[in-house]
Amino acid sequence: MMQSWFPDAKLGIFLHWGIYSVKGIPESWAFFNRQISYEDYMAQCSGFTANHYDPQAWANLFQRAGAKYAVLTSKHHDGVALWDTQLSDLSVVKQTPAARDLLTPYCEALREKGLKVGIYFSHLDWSHPDYAPIPPEERHGDTMEKAYQQWSDGPNNPTWQRFLKFHRGQLEELCTRFGKVDLLWFDGDWTPGDEYWRMAELREQLLSWQPETILNSRMRGHGDYQTPEQGIPISRPEGPWEFCVTINDSWGYQPQDQNYKSVRQIVRMFAECIGMGGNLLLDITPKEDGIFPPEQVERLEALGDWIRQHEEAVYATEAGLPAGHLYGTSTLSKDHQTLYAMIFDRPWDEIAIKGIRNQIKRVSVVGSGHELSYRKMGGAAWMNIPGVLWIEVPEAELNPNATVIKIELDGPLDLYSGAGHAIESN
Ligand code: GLC
Repeated sequence: MMQSWFPDAKLGIFLHWGIYSVKGIPESWAFFNRQISYEDYMAQCSGFTANHYDPQAWANLFQRAGAKYAVLTSKHHDGVALWDTQLSDLSVVKQTPAARDLLTPYCEALREKGLKVGIYFSHLDWSHPDYAPIPPEERHGDTMEKAYQQWSDGPNNPTWQRFLKFHRGQLEELCTRFGKVDLLWFDGDWTPGDEYWRMAELREQLLSWQPETILNSRMRGHGDYQTPEQGIPISRPEGPWEFCVTINDSWGYQPQDQNYKSVRQIVRMFAECIGMGGNLLLDITPKEDGIFPPEQVERLEALGDWIRQHEEAVYATEAGLPAGHLYGTSTLSKDHQTLYAMIFDRPWDEIAIKGIRNQIKRVSVVGSGHELSYRKMGGAAWMNIPGVLWIEVPEAELNPNATVIKIELDGPLDLYSGAGHAIESN
């Protein structure tokens, strides 16, 4: 069920941590896409140590980044659980030198820091013998659809029913053994169809175990919010949403992938998300030993610096102006009386904001607090068509990542977004 903490959180950290970090290959997809055999993929188990796993240090880092929640892969499509599941032998506890439950200390460390606990779980399980009527080593992108057709009795066949019992059973473990789970982040609901998964029923079940948990959308229409992935939305998604995106091009640790987004790009993405009323769920990738690559730590710290400097424009805000009023993005205080314009480029002298009917009380720069000069030009006030608000932004006030300008209004934002018309009375 949607909870008020979520739209206020703005930033979450996504963690893909699993045996795939040993060879540094794509999480689960490496064998599904035939990049490596299933056997070689699973052989990574022997290299997964979690030797330097320090969940307190993780939580500290997330907090310094300005995040309010985190989401850790408790089980990706490969089926390897990060906790001590009683329902299968496929866990880091039983199969890897890490040999312990990694989920409990994560949940505890987040809670200690006041961060919300999110758990990622893949519905589909490419390793479980009952998931499909072909063995795991034969499960590939091109074999699965055909495989399900072998079940002439569809979802009622005993094999699938056994899988469903296992699926529900693992979720029961996740929902009853780790204290309060604030967010369940599902994935892998795309095959087989809903007649198999029975998501409406699952939703009820999950809420009976965890009445306050939020469910993401990957529940075949039975979730609480949308999860646009990798491509930032151009138009504002309806309802609550969260944009999940990788910090480079990979969800899990892949050392050759140095295609990191810059701090400036990350800040901009973040600002654009919150400006459209969404959250950013930024994915980072621990190594098999639990250490983050330094490039990722640096970026999180820098994002956190920017957020801290601009906190009032971030957390207690809502989506700002719709597209077309400003070249940049913006957020709005909850009483709608303060607009925070976020600009990414270097203005020649002034920036322009269109459509504001209110009187302006004060314009200043968030961070320095310096007041800025402004003027309204044009419009036809007597016809209720506002002029353009021009704000002078001196070079010295510019922030290298995104400059935030605070515009205090005489009342709740009154916006003109019309197409214009002839002025018939002058
Ligand atoms: C995709 C991929 C998966 C990744 C997820 C994160 O659905 O299947 O590997 O975990 O995106 O959103």
